[in-house]
Amino acid sequence: MAFRPRLRLLSTFRAPLSTRRFATESRLASDHVRIVEVGPRDGLQNEKKAIPKETKLELIEKLAKTGVTTIEAGSFVPAKWVPQMASTAEICEHLLTSPPSSQNTTIAYNYLVPNIKGLESLVKIMDSTGVPAHAPGSATKAATTTEISLFAAATEAFSKANTNCTIAESLERIKPIVALAKTKDIRVRGYVSVALGCPYEGPEVSPTKVADITATLLEMGADEVSVADTTGMGTAPRTVELLKALKAAGIANTDLALHFHDTYGQALVNTIVALEHGVRIFDSSVGGLGGCPYSKGATGNVSTEDLIHTIHSLGMHTGISLEEMSQIGSWISGELGRINDSRAGKATLGRLSKI
Ligand code: HMG
Ligand code: MG
Repeated sequence: MAFRPRLRLLSTFRAPLSTRRFATESRLASDHVRIVEVGPRDGLQNEKKAIPKETKLELIEKLAKTGVTTIEAGSFVPAKWVPQMASTAEICEHLLTSPPSSQNTTIAYNYLVPNIKGLESLVKIMDSTGVPAHAPGSATKAATTTEISLFAAATEAFSKANTNCTIAESLERIKPIVALAKTKDIRVRGYVSVALGCPYEGPEVSPTKVADITATLLEMGADEVSVADTTGMGTAPRTVELLKALKAAGIANTDLALHFHDTYGQALVNTIVALEHGVRIFDSSVGGLGGCPYSKGATGNVSTEDLIHTIHSLGMHTGISLEEMSQIGSWISGELGRINDSRAGKATLGRLSKI
């Protein structure tokens, strides 16, 4: 399907079309679903009690062995804004120099960057360690990729709360980030927050506006955009409406991920709607950890265990071990002193204990 940009918020941000990837129908027909594990970032960022760096690294090391191929490892944000992410630089340096073994799978470690300063911090670590964005494996080291995520929002109120600027300003901010990332061959993921409901402006977020911002991020050079139901207010009919708007804006499913928080328990329903629509990339968090510090009351992402269970039950594949993921969900919930929010995870462990 050809990319048909419909409307541009900031037409000056258009990247040359030659830099864009184009979807092919054969890729859309795939039964493979790629899960982006956001637990170590989205899952932990809202925890009040400081989590030791060692626990975060242990979590990432365990996740790397499950078959998952993309792990959000942290955020290069000011500690004043998100204190829990203050150890990201150390975590990043560790993952670059001593990547966890990962069963011959190349793992992409992804870091959120809210502005150019965030990316400069990441690049400084990459330069000082001499590890490139695509680091091949060796006899002693696993192959890794370093990626970034940048973020915009679909409502002005959330943009102000989360990034202290307007939507237009946030898109301006993104331009130099993408430019620097490209010089370092760093893959860029974009996020569009509050796509199905805003904590400040309510559930009626315009699907056309979400699609416009998504298209703008892709045109600016993002390799993939994750459209996020930050508040979990999304319902099946509204997810259908959003997916139709994204399609009408010419956005290919291969360029699209969905990121469902499960506040109202609708994440799996909305996932099935999106799977039927052809989307094959979903974000989730082990144990259902998480929430957004700037979306009060929003709970964690859909749990990775529940997502894997649902996808496998449909005869589709993730390449991830549900059993291993369930063990990790139970372990990290215990470490954080919180209830394991994954029903499939708990059921899987219960079943295993009876064998
Ligand atoms: P600001 O206060 O307007 O920034 O915040 P500033 O440029 O005026 O700088 C203020 C101070 O911060 C300065 O230091 C800067 O140097 C420093 P001072 O001069 O006062 O000593 N600074 C930095 N330090 C370290 N790293 C940086 C950095 N940038 C500036 N990168 C800013 C603007 C964008 C930085 C802030 O609003 C911010 O960090 N926002 C991010 C908040 C956040 O992380 N939210 C959660 C992640 S998004 C999310 O969870 C949603 C998602 O999951 C999808 C979904 O579910 O919706 C992705
Ligand atoms: Mg989120």
